[in-house]
Amino acid sequence: MANWKFVLFCMFVILGTNNVLVSGTNDDRKVHIIYMGSLPKEDYSLASHHLNMLQQVLDDDFAENFLVTSYKRSFNGFAANLTDKEAENIGRMEGVVSVFESKKLQLHTTRSWDFLGLPETTKETSAIESDMIIGVFDSGVWPESDSFNDEGFGPSPKKWKGTCAGGKNFTCNNKIIGARYYSKDNNASARDDAGHGSHAASTAAGNKVKGTSFNGIAEGTARGGVPSARIAVYKVCDSRCTDAAVLGAFDDAIADGVDLITISLGSNSQYNFTEDPIAIGSFHAMEKGILTVNSGGNNGPLKHSTVSLAPWLFSVAASSTDRRIIDKVSLGNGVTLTGQSVNTFTSNGTKIPLVIGEHASIPNCKGPIAAACFENCLDPKQVEGKIVLCTSPAALETGFQSGAFGSIILYDKNMSVVVPYPTSILDTQTYTLALSYANSTTSPQAEILRSETIIDTNAPYLTDFSSRGPNAIVPEIMKPDITAPGLEILAAYSPIGSASGIGGDKRSSKYTFLTGTSMACPHVAAIAVYVKSFHPDWSPAAIKSSIMTTSTPMKGTEDKEFAYGSGQVNPIKAINPGLIFDLSKDDYVNLLCIIGYDTPNIRKISGDNTTCPSSTPQRSTVKDFNYPALAFHAHPNQPFVVNFTRTVTNVGFANSTYKVSVPTSSDLNVTVVPQVISFKSLNEKQSFVVNVVGGKFPQESVVSSSLEWTDGTHNVRSPIVVDVSQPEERSHFM
Ligand SMILES: *[C@@H]1O[C@H](CO)[C@@H](O)[C@H](O)[C@H]1NC(C)=O
Ligand SMILES: *[C@@H]1O[C@H](CO)[C@@H](O)[C@H](O)[C@H]1NC(C)=O
Ligand SMILES: *[C@@H]1O[C@H](CO)[C@@H](O)[C@H](O)[C@H]1NC(C)=O
Ligand SMILES: *[C@@H]1O[C@H](CO)[C@@H](O)[C@H](O)[C@H]1NC(C)=O
Ligand SMILES: *[C@@H]1O[C@H](CO)[C@@H](O)[C@H](O)[C@H]1NC(C)=O
Ligand SMILES: *[C@@H]1O[C@H](CO)[C@@H](O)[C@H](O)[C@H]1NC(C)=O
Ligand SMILES: *[C@@H]1O[C@H](CO)[C@@H](O)[C@H](O)[C@H]1NC(C)=O
Ligand SMILES: *[C@@H]1O[C@H](CO)[C@@H](O)[C@H](O)[C@H]1NC(C)=O
Ligand SMILES: *[C@@H]1O[C@H](CO)[C@@H](O)[C@H](O)[C@H]1NC(C)=O
Ligand SMILES: *[C@@H]1O[C@H](CO)[C@@H](O)[C@H](O)[C@H]1NC(C)=O
Ligand SMILES: *[C@@H]1O[C@H](CO)[C@@H](O)[C@H](O)[C@H]1NC(C)=O
Repeated sequence: MANWKFVLFCMFVILGTNNVLVSGTNDDRKVHIIYMGSLPKEDYSLASHHLNMLQQVLDDDFAENFLVTSYKRSFNGFAANLTDKEAENIGRMEGVVSVFESKKLQLHTTRSWDFLGLPETTKETSAIESDMIIGVFDSGVWPESDSFNDEGFGPSPKKWKGTCAGGKNFTCNNKIIGARYYSKDNNASARDDAGHGSHAASTAAGNKVKGTSFNGIAEGTARGGVPSARIAVYKVCDSRCTDAAVLGAFDDAIADGVDLITISLGSNSQYNFTEDPIAIGSFHAMEKGILTVNSGGNNGPLKHSTVSLAPWLFSVAASSTDRRIIDKVSLGNGVTLTGQSVNTFTSNGTKIPLVIGEHASIPNCKGPIAAACFENCLDPKQVEGKIVLCTSPAALETGFQSGAFGSIILYDKNMSVVVPYPTSILDTQTYTLALSYANSTTSPQAEILRSETIIDTNAPYLTDFSSRGPNAIVPEIMKPDITAPGLEILAAYSPIGSASGIGGDKRSSKYTFLTGTSMACPHVAAIAVYVKSFHPDWSPAAIKSSIMTTSTPMKGTEDKEFAYGSGQVNPIKAINPGLIFDLSKDDYVNLLCIIGYDTPNIRKISGDNTTCPSSTPQRSTVKDFNYPALAFHAHPNQPFVVNFTRTVTNVGFANSTYKVSVPTSSDLNVTVVPQVISFKSLNEKQSFVVNVVGGKFPQESVVSSSLEWTDGTHNVRSPIVVDVSQPEERSHFM
């Protein structure tokens, strides 16, 4: 099944060849990250300190030859090419928090803004908005795209301390105000040859561009959420994305003075926060008041599959918009079937012969492997000029490369991807109809029609592929946090990237459709910048809270909030939340103490003389961490009672009174004490206790409820979500 997984991966992720790690001996050198926490207070040359440390573990070799990068602008650490033994030795040196191999990360691959109700920016806000700088960590951008034209933009904001170091043939402008890249290859640059980075950057902050479409499909105006904001490009992905590059980008972006970081990529596994570059980098960003927005991953609908887990990250799930793209297949027997794909090929009305993949394979491929049309199975002679029926999306690539005219593919996920040749993708039931027709007559034939857009009144619903919680490291911190559109999003692309991401598809396009939590992430990044443009002094946690508590509740998946977080983003409400659940760096540090990090490491990470309380607080107090959502783990078939304490800060009307309400029909009995809270001034804080009583729920269930404070103007909603599972299941790292 490895092939199938590979193709699935390609569909969301345009970059990153899925290299198999070569296992080797202990003497092999691999790039390792040596993380050393905050910058030291004393002023000394970190670069030479790093070289010194390195020299101590290398025998006769020159340390310079093994140092990959020094992180010294925003936090302390370095990347070096080490054997396992050397890495182990360096890990014992003073000042080191963690040592880990630089792993490969994956990119988590316009109408959406209208759907979310974000109006085009007004004159008043654009002045502040145009001082906002979004750091985009991705595959670079195509700077000449119309989405990044700088017409009407003034010079860079004064606070900007970055630079345009985009490499060969990369020119910045007043829209793309900075660029850096992290590849050491000759000729490397911040130019986007894949398309993913241009897509993310333009979704967040692209200009309004009229008349965009993908080959005529879904024509309209493309625009980012905050079209006046500036973009700083950090190209962390070339043929692959690495931990070392991501940390390099955090080190730079924080010092360069970005307002927010959006990062649509992640690992496929979960790691301790001190071994996870996105968790490390975003912690130091948070210290400087910079919120990091991160895609939750495309490994759904498996539970515990989200990899974006740190409490200071804003982790995003992907949902649909009300515009879907479908295509139709007209069979020779007069039946028309509806499938999903972005098929730009126009039929000339002629029906094309059908062939079943299983019947058109070389003798070595049999049964399900042949039916799936896996690599090297289809016989080009038998499929040439025909439409081939296959049970796996592998056929997007294999059928195309074998010279088939088109394909009809079985794939049970609710999404349309760009196809390289005429293709309709059908669910199980519909595919069975096509297959039995094809097998029922001697010369079956069909016509695949060009895709059309439809209005989907069921929107929004969560996508199948969006990674699910609960949080595998801290179950009391709900993940993902929020959902935003990530299905069939049209945005800028790299004209040298393949339109479908399938090898051999030579079509070039300035705009294309992509699907993934990668596309949802920049939507939330834009909204966070939008909120920050109204409230420049708000902490990252305050911005996150305002977006979470004003989101629109979702339903429709069995994982409930562990699928879509608080709900779907609502940018207009988010700028005026009334109350916020605030958190400071000290709160996060205290949380790290509670979950088991010791004082020496905490001091290195926080860069101050913080001491974890001598009597380590109970692990159970994590539930009182002031998160805008309440999450809990319960045992199957055992009733439970749990109290959560929360503190809200008034950012609405100075003189205000809020009353609480909980839904009447709920699996949980929720009581809040007190029921009414009053404020006399802005920034005043009030605390309350939420008592949650639950009965016996079966293994693997998720039960949820919510509480909502309202003063008649603002509605401040927090979900309450309980994961019912055996304890051993919740901490297994995937
Ligand atoms: C690390 O060292 C190995 C040799 O052990 C070499 O093949 C590899 O290219 C080096 N990597 C880097 C990034 O220097
Ligand atoms: C520089 O980039 C532009 C981008 O459009 C391209 O047309 C041009 O060929 C590039 N020049 C070189 C020397 O690569
Ligand atoms: C870099 O560009 C030069 C000149 O265009 C070319 O000769 C060389 O092969 C390129 N190197 C790589 C690694 O692509
Ligand atoms: C329609 O397209 C098919 C497949 O490319 C081709 O064989 C056929 O000649 C075309 N028919 C017309 C009327 O153009
Ligand atoms: C799949 O897509 C259809 C068509 O847009 C939609 O109505 C339906 O709710 C979706 N189903 C699921 C399970 O997401
Ligand atoms: C096609 O039909 C034959 C006979 O009706 C049956 O044995 C075979 O399994 C069918 N093949 C497929 C791929 O459905
Ligand atoms: C993760 O961090 C915790 C807390 O410091 C530690 O106890 C545990 O051993 C770490 N796990 C791994 C796999 O490193
Ligand atoms: C921490 O350091 C500050 C000065 O940097 C000092 O005022 C404070 O007393 C120290 N606290 C502890 C617990 O050592
Ligand atoms: C939980 O809260 C309820 C209601 O405020 C209170 O009566 C009860 O004593 C609390 N229980 C614990 C264990 O704190
Ligand atoms: C605050 O609100 C209360 C009740 O609505 C009202 O009686 C009081 O006058 C208000 N105080 C101020 C200073 O506006
Ligand atoms: C929840 O409240 C209802 C109504 O008071 C009661 O019948 C039910 O037993 C309660 N459930 C639990 C689990 O305490």
